[in-house]
Amino acid sequence: MPSLIPVIAIDGPAASGKGTLARRLARHFDFAYLDTGALYRAVGLQVMRTGGDTENQQDAVKAAQQLADLDLTDPELKSESTGGLASKVATIQAVRDILLKFQQNFAQNPPGDKGGAILDGRDIGTIICPDADVKIFITASVETRAKRRFIEEFGPAGNDEDYTAILNELTTRDKRDMNRASSPLKAAENAHLLDTTNSDIETVFEQALQLISDKITTASLP
Ligand code: CDP
Repeated sequence: MPSLIPVIAIDGPAASGKGTLARRLARHFDFAYLDTGALYRAVGLQVMRTGGDTENQQDAVKAAQQLADLDLTDPELKSESTGGLASKVATIQAVRDILLKFQQNFAQNPPGDKGGAILDGRDIGTIICPDADVKIFITASVETRAKRRFIEEFGPAGNDEDYTAILNELTTRDKRDMNRASSPLKAAENAHLLDTTNSDIETVFEQALQLISDKITTASLP
């Protein structure tokens, strides 16, 4: 049975297009959107900037406790090197426990009086919102994802070495995310899989729209 406040969970590996899809869906349905990766990125960056070690539980927990004061719009959050810091603090269960409450509260009480919530990340459909109305697991080949992140990060100035560095960083991050003990990256059993290797954002958006419209009652949609 659909819940009163519809929740859409979008998970997937690095640079799979989760954010682009989630933002577009949020605009379409006028739902609140939370990029949960930005929380881990902000924590990782804070540890680094305060001279801590992202693999040290005490340092990472201290930064996670300061979440409310961290700038989630800092442009440095987007870099692949910050992604690496994020995936290190993300292996620490105590950090995940602190961020879990923030994420669940967002899903249950979407800010701005919005009628629903969309969260994207790695464990939204499995741990954060196991009862989400619609779960999407979005993926693409690692080469396609690396190309997308390379263009985002370097634009036309990028060279082959930059591309190879991004490819290696994404591969390492995916491995760390999939193999960690706490909330590893994986599709929820009832998630819909979307492979975007050969599809543009328009096609993926139309597919997701169909899935959501099939699942959520029109009464709860604008
Ligand atoms: O944008 P991209 O897919 O590259 O990464 P992100 O969603 O910003 O997430 C950055 C890192 O945070 C990931 O590699 C994960 O290690 C971690 N993360 C997580 O563990 N759980 C989430 N719900 C979201 C992100």
